[in-house]
Amino acid sequence: MAEVKLINVWKKFGEVTAVQDMSLHVKDGEFMILLGPSGCGKTTTLRMIAGLEEPTKGQIYVGDKLVADPEKGVFVPPKDRDIAMVFQSYALYPHMTVYDNIAFPLKLRKVPKQEIDRRVREVAEMLGLTELLKRKPRELSGGQRQRVALGRAIVRQPQVFLMDEPLSNLDAKLRVRMRAELKKLQKQLGVTTIYVTHDQVEAMTMGDRIAVINAGILQQVGTPDEVYNKPANVFVGGFIGSPAMNFLDASVVEDERGVWVDFGEFKLKLLEDQAEVLRELGYIGKEVIFGIRPEDLYDAMFAQVKIPGENMIRAMVDIVENLGSERIVHLRVGNLTFVGAFHAESMVKEGQEIDVVFDMKKVHIFDKKTEKAIF
Ligand SMILES: Nc1ncnc2c1ncn2[C@@H]1O[C@H](COP(=O)(O)OP(=O)(O)OP(=O)(O)O)[C@@H](O)[C@H]1O
Ligand SMILES: [Mg+2]
Repeated sequence: MAEVKLINVWKKFGEVTAVQDMSLHVKDGEFMILLGPSGCGKTTTLRMIAGLEEPTKGQIYVGDKLVADPEKGVFVPPKDRDIAMVFQSYALYPHMTVYDNIAFPLKLRKVPKQEIDRRVREVAEMLGLTELLKRKPRELSGGQRQRVALGRAIVRQPQVFLMDEPLSNLDAKLRVRMRAELKKLQKQLGVTTIYVTHDQVEAMTMGDRIAVINAGILQQVGTPDEVYNKPANVFVGGFIGSPAMNFLDASVVEDERGVWVDFGEFKLKLLEDQAEVLRELGYIGKEVIFGIRPEDLYDAMFAQVKIPGENMIRAMVDIVENLGSERIVHLRVGNLTFVGAFHAESMVKEGQEIDVVFDMKKVHIFDKKTEKAIF
């Protein structure tokens, strides 16, 4: 087991900058998720850690060992990094049994036969594959095949696991199950794991911490709670959470009653501690981006604190999507639109005008220019 450190790492492919000045410290035994949209540089980052790609600039450490630093001419090849990688398109050898597939990396390393047998059986037991050791890959389900691919990585007992969207080929139900199994297995083995996904639910449910990446740039690193509740900027706020956070342009104004976010069509009164922060940082009279998650909007019927004109407004219901467990309600005030995730028992109807309550404790305010969170 080992920590993994990236220090100011860059990767350029000709004109394309795939990874830009990335610094990331993955702790020993940690389950770290790299999360971001397609093309943001997740796979490239993983491949640099594995040694399949050389950084253009910066240093990479696995444990105490410097494995890549182009300025010093250091580049440790993949086979000497003690890292196992599981890809999205895990290619099992079709003509080999499950047993031989799992044993393969050990045979390559000329591990004694008895030792191979012991380790393959141990891994098979752990992954629930014992009954399947004699089968060929084509006689397995998708989830079973995925477990064989994991077994092949685990059997080597590497210091670090790198996984690139390993569950994306599975159907939705199996993915949910494998998510839980994989997390449990990682805790059991205690091996430092870096796991790439563009699925924010996977990231939230599996990771000890999440590194959110956009356009090759690390946006925020934090626990699932931190990135969800305290997004560092508009991108993170919008990328994590479904339905997505609502963003509205607003200006901050102050009168004798307090500090408000003014949307033109309506305004909301900020709480005193929020007001204080904006005053202190000189945001009174300035434009900002206001953010609130759909679940922090309420049908007034189900709200505790409601003060008309302060945290409660009239809005038109455009569309109601009934998900059973909740209702996704598309709301409109003049030309402003936003989405609420209402209580399943909310009876609001399309075309109706209703009272909507904002949970002001849950409001996010971002700088208009930098898009960084003020709170
Ligand atoms: N070998 C290469 N040559 C040129 N450009 C590359 C190469 N590999 C990756 N890129 C570019 O680098 C950027 C990052 O690619 P990368 O594969 O790391 O993205 P990703 O986050 O893994 O995306 P996805 O979620 O689609 O797998 C993209 O713009 C991609 O086109
Ligand atoms: Mg990728």
